[in-house]
Amino acid sequence: MPLDLIFMGPPGAGKGTQAARVAAQRGLAHIATGDMLRAAVRDGTELGRQAKEIMARGDLVPDEVIIGMIRERLSGGGTENGFILDGFPRTLAQAEALDAMLDGLDRRIAAVPVFNLGLEALVERIGGRRVCRAQEHVYHLVTKPPAVPGICDVDGSELYQRDDDREDVIRTRYRKQWEDAATPVLDYYEDRDLVVFIDASGTPEQVSQELDELFGRLEAARS
Ligand code: AP5
Repeated sequence: MPLDLIFMGPPGAGKGTQAARVAAQRGLAHIATGDMLRAAVRDGTELGRQAKEIMARGDLVPDEVIIGMIRERLSGGGTENGFILDGFPRTLAQAEALDAMLDGLDRRIAAVPVFNLGLEALVERIGGRRVCRAQEHVYHLVTKPPAVPGICDVDGSELYQRDDDREDVIRTRYRKQWEDAATPVLDYYEDRDLVVFIDASGTPEQVSQELDELFGRLEAARS
């Protein structure tokens, strides 16, 4: 049976870092809407042209665009073992649309880990983030520096700072996307007993350990 999860949390809490690691270790698909949108911007598609400015100012891309993107991704292959949704759903409309899609696929969300971290720590963490131009590999100037400054260890492409990683935009994203839009989504999954809070303030290794314990419990419950 596939293991399907949603990673939630404010911007910069470490969802993408952990989702990439866990997905690779456990053979799950890592489906990150932010990465998909940035790829569209990079490729200069119509979607990318629409999304670029919205993302740069810290707003949400319209629900119908994102829901269509996820519908297409989930109906494609590569999710047989399960998936981690990273950055979706972010609004109640997205959560309800996801449930309808999963019903159609006869799949169920097993858990919703929520990465907890306060705003000032997020600002500091995101300030040091650098990502690679080719494939969005994530680094941090202090906690995860590349071997050669400014160059991705994996594919050799240039590292850059995202347009939406400026402090004013981080604060906007936190307020509009986390405090406002995500609150009803959190309630939605709490009502369904799926939320598991993760202390995201520790080192990457500490957060990994907490998450691996959760995956161990979920896998044991299925065997
Ligand atoms: P998206 O890319 O999803 O941004 P986000 O949710 O704001 O999340 P981030 O990628 O900023 O952070 P993260 O939690 O993954 O942290 P990371 O692991 O990188 O979305 C971008 C935009 O796209 C949105 O603003 C919106 O416009 C649009 N969008 C996307 N999805 C949408 C949707 N569903 N609906 C509408 N619009 C949508 O870690 C951060 C840094 O900290 C890194 O440098 C990392 O190395 C470091 N780090 C990680 N863990 C630790 C640790 N434990 N200790 C110290 N440093 C750490």
